[in-house]
Amino acid sequence: MDFPARPEIQAWLSYFDDLGLGPFYLDRAAMELPAAEAVPAKRRTTPLSAPAPMTSQAARPLDAALPVVPSLFDAAPRIEGDSLARIREDIGDCKRCRLCEARNSIVFGEGSERAQLVFVGEGPGHDEDMQGLPFVGRAGKLLNQMIEAMGLRREDVYICNIVKCRPPGNRQPERDEVATCSPFLDRQLAVIHPKVVVCLGNVAAQTLLGTNKSISQFRGQWFDFRGMKLLATYHPAFLLRTPSAKSEVWTDLKKVMAELGLKPPKPKPRAG
Ligand code: URA
Repeated sequence: MDFPARPEIQAWLSYFDDLGLGPFYLDRAAMELPAAEAVPAKRRTTPLSAPAPMTSQAARPLDAALPVVPSLFDAAPRIEGDSLARIREDIGDCKRCRLCEARNSIVFGEGSERAQLVFVGEGPGHDEDMQGLPFVGRAGKLLNQMIEAMGLRREDVYICNIVKCRPPGNRQPERDEVATCSPFLDRQLAVIHPKVVVCLGNVAAQTLLGTNKSISQFRGQWFDFRGMKLLATYHPAFLLRTPSAKSEVWTDLKKVMAELGLKPPKPKPRAG
C-alpha cells in the first residue's frame, strides 16, 4: 500500500509503545527500540520525603530539602496590567547579554495567553533560532507528540524557555545569561498564570526552583511556584537519547493530566 504517512505513524506507534500505552500492531518486532540506556546517574537510593503542602508563596519548593541557591524569581516585583505583548516590546532588540551576538532571532515563546499549562525548556537551538519559535526541531516534534498524547494541541499550551536567545553551539546558558533573561520569563508566567508549569530538563527545573540538585532527584514531584503547581520532567532532547526514560515522563505527564482534568485520547483500534 502506498502510504505517505507511514514514517509518521511508525513514530507515533513507537512513542505510544514507549509510554506503555500498549501495542497496536501484532508484529512489532521490526520496530523494537534499542536496549534501554541508563536513566540519569546520581539517582537517589532513597526517595525524597513526601512533598509538603502547597503554599501560595513565591517559588517555594514543596520539599524542604530542595532549596540550595536562591531562586532568581524570588524577588521579582509584579507589574500592574502586564501582557505578553508588553513584555515582548520591553525585550525589544535585546542586547542585555552576550547571547545577542550570535543569535538570529529572539525566541520569545508561543501559545495561548490563557493556557492552563506552560512548558519551560532551556533555550533555543538551531531550528528555533532560525524560525524564532520554541521547540520546533527534533525535540520539539517529540514535545508535540507528548502534548497530543495528553489530549491537547500545541496551541492550547504555552511553550517558552529559560533564555530567549540560542547559546552558541547549544551550550548550556550561563548563570548571568539566565539572570538577565529570567525577569521576562517571570513576567510571562505571571501574565499567563497557568494552573501547571512543567519544567523540561535540569536547567529549567533548577532555575525555577532555585536548586542545584539533579532533576532525577525530584522529577515528578509537585512544587508550589508563585501559586502555580510546578512539576519537572526530563527534557525531550534527553528522551531522544534515552528512549527508555519516556515511561517516566509519561508517568509525570499523567500527573499533570490528572491535575488539569484531562483524559488521554483513546488509542486507535488495531489495524487489520
Ligand atoms: N530545547 C529547548 O530547551 N528549547 C527549545 O526551544 C528547543 C530545544
